[in-house]
Amino acid sequence: MARKTRYVVGLDVGTTKTCTIICEVNDEGALEVVGVGSAESKGMRRGVVVNLDGAVSTIKKSVEEAESSAGTSVESVFVGLSGGHIQSFNSQGAVAVTAESREIGRADIRRVLETAKAVSLPSDREIVHVLPQEFVVDGQDGIGDPLGLLGTRLEVNCHIVTGSTTAAQNIVTAVNRSGLIVADTILQQLASAESTLSEDDKELGVGLVDVGGGTTNLAVYTYGGIRHSSVLPLGGDQITNDIAVGLRTSILEAEKIKREHGCALSTLVEEDIEFEVSTVAGRQTKSISKRILCEIIQPRMEEILTLVQEDIRQAGFERLLGAGLVITGGTALLEGVVELAEQTFDLPVRPGSPRGLAKMEDALIAPAYSTAVGLVLYGYRAHAHRWIGHPDGDNFLKRWGSRLFSRKRGKL
Ligand SMILES: Nc1ncnc2c1ncn2[C@@H]1O[C@H](COP(=O)(O)OP(=O)(O)OP(=O)(O)O)[C@@H](O)[C@H]1O
Ligand SMILES: [Mg+2]
Repeated sequence: MARKTRYVVGLDVGTTKTCTIICEVNDEGALEVVGVGSAESKGMRRGVVVNLDGAVSTIKKSVEEAESSAGTSVESVFVGLSGGHIQSFNSQGAVAVTAESREIGRADIRRVLETAKAVSLPSDREIVHVLPQEFVVDGQDGIGDPLGLLGTRLEVNCHIVTGSTTAAQNIVTAVNRSGLIVADTILQQLASAESTLSEDDKELGVGLVDVGGGTTNLAVYTYGGIRHSSVLPLGGDQITNDIAVGLRTSILEAEKIKREHGCALSTLVEEDIEFEVSTVAGRQTKSISKRILCEIIQPRMEEILTLVQEDIRQAGFERLLGAGLVITGGTALLEGVVELAEQTFDLPVRPGSPRGLAKMEDALIAPAYSTAVGLVLYGYRAHAHRWIGHPDGDNFLKRWGSRLFSRKRGKL
């Protein structure tokens, strides 16, 4: 078993920025932010590593910054996993309870989860998460924790996430080459959901949409459990590209304009202000109206949201989202995104900012940090036994779904 430690570290290697959050477990078992580091990402494309050296230098920069602000060095990190290679499906498992007393034990739970994950996968894919949705004991469904109940037959419904073995290994290798051990790889939207959604959201039915720079990560929860997850290889960087092409300016200038003047819904542009844009060569400037900028942004944002909608519809959950949608990730800051999503989905939509850690500075309570904050929270909960003073340290079930099935990798 890993040595108990006081620090929990989340490392979000995004397509546009990489962020490290170091938290310390305080005497009450709560997590306090002690260090944050951020670096512009290099070597990443649409959520996956495409250049190892670039990714390593980015990770080192972000981790070193966090270490120096925390005044400590870190050994292992929870790292996020993303990319178009991620696939998910739901699965079931069933076993007979073995004890003569018919009392359901840990071994039964372990076995039933093993049967649920016994699906044949192509040799280049592996299981990333097995996430139990509910247990069924002798036909009684909706059971969250069957440990100690009496029964003869134990069933489980699970959400299984798979990914490309090589893509998953590449991010682990990048972290290892940065001198760190991977405590676990966690699907990015599970982390974002951990920091932005409430239990009520998950119970009522909610879609978590993390629109980053290169990917849009989706997770759907109903009746308290995750039912669907997917990664779309499209994000805010496409909007920036469209602006650069449309206004014939540089990517850097397009990004600045998007953040300062961008709007995703034309009906929100009341006063048609004009602003200056420098041309590609940078020698001249021209005047552009906010309405024209909006005409470039809106169709691309609509495309992203429509793809999310189709994905949710195909999975069969469009009518089950009582709590609506939560939009997070850096693109959630784009003016009009929430309103455009409300129009597209005809559902309540709210922006999601991360919470759940103590001593979070205002700059950290921003949608772009939902994944990084969530990695700390998810890792801490799913690996409770590792931390000194975790209130759920002995709670076997609080950590299933991750520890039981996490790959044993990442040793230097
Ligand atoms: N104020 C803002 N207005 C509009 N867009 C913004 C704003 N701030 C950030 N963004 C956009 O958010 C995107 C980056 O989001 P985020 O930091 O969540 O991405 P990431 O985690 O690096 O990427 P990914 O999750 O796709 O791998 C960029 O496209 C950026 O332009
Ligand atoms: Mg991200």
